[in-house]
Amino acid sequence: MKRDLISMLDVADDLEEIIDLGIKIKKDSKDGRNVEYLKGRSLAMIFEKSSTRTRASFEVGMTKLGGHALFLSPNDIQMGRGETIEDTGLVLGRYVDLIMYRAFKNENVLELARASRVPLINGLDNEEHPCQIITDLMTIKENFGKLAGLDFVYFGDAANNMANSYLLGMALVGMNVKLVAPKQYWPKQHYVDKAREIGKKTGAKVEITDVVEGAAKGADVVCTDTWVSMGDETQKEKRLKEFVGYTVNGKRMAEANKKAIFMHCLPAYYGYEVSKEVAHGPQSVIFDEAENRMWAQMAIMVRLCGVL
Ligand code: CP
Ligand code: NVA
Repeated sequence: MKRDLISMLDVADDLEEIIDLGIKIKKDSKDGRNVEYLKGRSLAMIFEKSSTRTRASFEVGMTKLGGHALFLSPNDIQMGRGETIEDTGLVLGRYVDLIMYRAFKNENVLELARASRVPLINGLDNEEHPCQIITDLMTIKENFGKLAGLDFVYFGDAANNMANSYLLGMALVGMNVKLVAPKQYWPKQHYVDKAREIGKKTGAKVEITDVVEGAAKGADVVCTDTWVSMGDETQKEKRLKEFVGYTVNGKRMAEANKKAIFMHCLPAYYGYEVSKEVAHGPQSVIFDEAENRMWAQMAIMVRLCGVL
């Protein structure tokens, strides 16, 4: 049976093992040890939306693993002219060992996964961004040496892909997760319920609030994401008004623990969800986070191929 990564729930049983593997591959590679675990294998990457980090990190990561990555834009492949997702999956599965898909609709990711006989990795859709959350957990573990028991607070759009995956991912590793957002941007209830159910086993507490003042008190990790995700552009003006007051700035960071780190998956829009001072300040780990996309995804690909 092949294994896909579409939701954080797909790594419920070995999330910390994957994180530790990412940390190991990073160290081994930097120390000059051989990490060519996927020699001769290929990854197809389909992007329906823009990307800097996901594209570069998957492509270079696959090269470091001894494999090869193909960038497939829907504008260039027949899917853009109406070939079905099913046929695309059936065909690509005959050439490559892994498929990464960044899509507008989660149902399309599920359909491609069903059709292809090789593992499918969700490179971001409207529901989740699991590669980013595995990366963020790896970055948090590098900084604190542990995950369980830490306090994570996220300001901004709590109804987007990042927030959904944070809820599930943080609950799985036993981190307390607080989402701070205007009520109309709270996550769908089933994500909250699932995170709370997981938290009963792992000890993670889950809180959703619209109260900004004091919300970062005691936080180890302060985090945000864009207020206007890809696909939300038509609501831009409305959103920029509704999120006023939810910016992560010096005041929010001053409420958090002294050793707190600031995280953002990027791209960032300075002056909106975060101030440039915080994002480029001493507590920020955003560029380590961007780098870790590559190491974490190398671990994910090795794992899904069943090599380690
Ligand atoms: N964080 C992230 O997924 O970035 P890209 O959109 O540049 O891939
Ligand atoms: N929530 C953002 C994440 C970008 C990496 C989006 O979907 O556009």
